[in-house]
Amino acid sequence: MSSTIESLRVVGGARLEGEVAVLGAKNAALKHMVATLLAPGVHRLSNVPRILDVEIMGNVLRHVGAICARDGTTLEIDVPETPNPEAPLDLVRQMRASILILGTLLARTGEARVALPGGDDFGSRPIDLHLGGLENLGAVFELQHGVLRATAPDGLHGAEVFLEFPSVGATENILLASVLAEGTTTIGNAAREPELTDLATYLTAMGAKIDGAGTSTIKIHGVRELHPSDHRVVPDRLEAGTYAFAGAMTHGHVTIRDCVPAHLRMEMTKLADAGAVVTSGDDWITIEGPDRPGPIDFATLPFPGYHTDMHPQMVALLSVADGTSIATENVYDARFRYIGELNRMGADIHTDGQHIVIRGVEELSGCEVDGCDIRAAAALTIAGLRADGTTTIVGAHHADRGYDGFVEKLTALGATIDRI
Ligand code: EPU
Repeated sequence: MSSTIESLRVVGGARLEGEVAVLGAKNAALKHMVATLLAPGVHRLSNVPRILDVEIMGNVLRHVGAICARDGTTLEIDVPETPNPEAPLDLVRQMRASILILGTLLARTGEARVALPGGDDFGSRPIDLHLGGLENLGAVFELQHGVLRATAPDGLHGAEVFLEFPSVGATENILLASVLAEGTTTIGNAAREPELTDLATYLTAMGAKIDGAGTSTIKIHGVRELHPSDHRVVPDRLEAGTYAFAGAMTHGHVTIRDCVPAHLRMEMTKLADAGAVVTSGDDWITIEGPDRPGPIDFATLPFPGYHTDMHPQMVALLSVADGTSIATENVYDARFRYIGELNRMGADIHTDGQHIVIRGVEELSGCEVDGCDIRAAAALTIAGLRADGTTTIVGAHHADRGYDGFVEKLTALGATIDRI
């Protein structure tokens, strides 16, 4: 994997055919890496994608005192008896998932110092729900020069937390803090994402007592200590879904292996509504793309609704539909930068902030575009696969943040794509 690529160059026109296997989910693996800090000793995580964000998280763990070694897609993490309670500023700024270190280190050491997180630019992305939930558990926060210091003067104790919105990160932070708290914690209106359920499975294997993961009410009965464990990371539904859209966009015939079709039910239903033939088995999905997609309407929602991280890929597909579609973004307040880029390729898309009107055009035309975040880079690649001529996606390191072997896997399916 290279972390220094500047651009991807995609030549349009190929019909994608064949099979592609997906690895474990980025948005689970990163959380599991943080969770290892809850128990000293050696943990082994398998099915971990070789992506930039995993490397960054590895560096965060090293700073805290863990030894992280990779062998292919297996990570071995040796957690010290006494972790350093501070996450490095420059690394945390690069990745939002590092905010989870707050609840984790607080639970483990009674203190945490973390810079306010960065991540993809989809609007304001506050952490008020994380902090409110941790305060209920007994945390006290102090913000000084951009660094958040958390302490728990009377220790962490079980509490009732009801989230205003089923935030994935806030649910995870509270879960990570409460497994070692004294007493029982209840998280109401909890996120139900499969990656979070997988985190609960891993924590349970480490000795945590958790009921209701995958439902809106999670109950955590605190235990005194946890032990290291091995875990295979749940398949990446976003990687699987992205290749499904690439197949659909190119009128292709693609089978995605090693995935969990039930985790993509809404996205595949919508893809079928747009004209693709979708079949699936226990751990595979096959897509036969339509000659030209039909228009559909869709709205993003927390799981099991349509995933916001599959929104740009769907809009790219609908940009060449035979009619007008309407998309509604309900999770982020500013996930629209990629739209201007699609319009530069000849798409006809308008947005008022929350709603997007996509008037399908017959053809896109390749040009230079900015792959401003992970899913934007994926969506623009999908658009480039169908566009006339060559599309150059600048800032394509974003694809390396989320997809293991993106160029290699698309090439194996018949795409003409390379790195510049
Ligand atoms: N929000 C708040 N306050 C909070 C927390 C969240 O207002 O304290 C808002 C956010 O601003 C956002 C919404 O709630 O508008 C959803 O945020 P959530 O906390 O659910 O998302 P997250 O944990 O920050 C994870 C994924 C994202 C994915 C979202 C939604 C990771 C590392 N990131 O982010 O993935 O879009 O859940 O499913 O797990 C990606 O992989 O490309 C990606 C951005």
